[in-house]
Amino acid sequence: MASEGALVVVTDRDADRAQAVVAEIGRSGGRAEARGLDVGDDAALAAEITGAASRHGRLDILHSHAGIQIPGRLEEVTPEQMDASWTLNVRSHFVAARTAMPVMKAQGKGSIIITSSNSGVQYDREMIAYATTKHAVIAMTRQMAVDYACYNVRCNALCPGFVDTPFNDGFKRQMGGRHALEEYVAHTIPMGRWGTPEEIAEGIVFLASDQSAFLTGHALVIDGAECI
Ligand SMILES: NC(=O)c1ccc[n+]([C@@H]2O[C@H](COP(=O)([O-])OP(=O)(O)OC[C@H]3O[C@@H](n4cnc5c(N)ncnc54)[C@H](O)[C@@H]3O)[C@@H](O)[C@H]2O)c1
Repeated sequence: MASEGALVVVTDRDADRAQAVVAEIGRSGGRAEARGLDVGDDAALAAEITGAASRHGRLDILHSHAGIQIPGRLEEVTPEQMDASWTLNVRSHFVAARTAMPVMKAQGKGSIIITSSNSGVQYDREMIAYATTKHAVIAMTRQMAVDYACYNVRCNALCPGFVDTPFNDGFKRQMGGRHALEEYVAHTIPMGRWGTPEEIAEGIVFLASDQSAFLTGHALVIDGAECI
């Protein structure tokens, strides 16, 4: 987004990670700010979004991305773990979107992108908390899309497949290690490989920009055909 000219406010619970992204953007000539933020803290999340909008006079794009993957079947996942999944995978996106919406409505334009997963359009094995919450957040995004289309605020869900980030550490343990995970990726995904962060970023920029000006309520799956 920075390379396309956006001023990006990068937030992460780990402020050093946000800072590292901002430094990378700066080295390539883009504009960005780093902020430490735990999106599980409703008040801090809302304050961060309204603060960004008031510092810069507008808010064109919200990409709400952080999530949590707790493995297990119905009898293995505790109610507390289901609540934790809901808090990050649905509630934080709800709080972020409801804070951004009045700013975007007043502007007469905006793009809200919520990261779900291809697990939001298919059913994984032994992942009840993840699959349930990732399906739920697509439903929420589509409901937002239909309610706010008349304000020209677009709401779309991003549904990545396997990308090799630390996010998959839990799944790697569940599979029995790195080798088993690589085998899974090679044999379960029709394209036979991981997606790259750059391939996902192309989809994010598409949803953020006017390239998708008439697209709202869509779940954009980028997964090498895994979910088919
Ligand atoms: N990597 C994949 O294969 C994959 C596939 C489908 C969907 N996703 C989705 O993408 C999102 C993140 O995945 P990723 O691959 O970018 O992970 P990642 O591990 O590369 O990065 C996640 C970042 O989120 C931050 N974070 C975690 N909890 C936070 C919180 N409460 N508040 C603020 N920041 C927090 C972490 O510090 C980390 O920097 C999740 O919503 C996940 O469901 C990932």
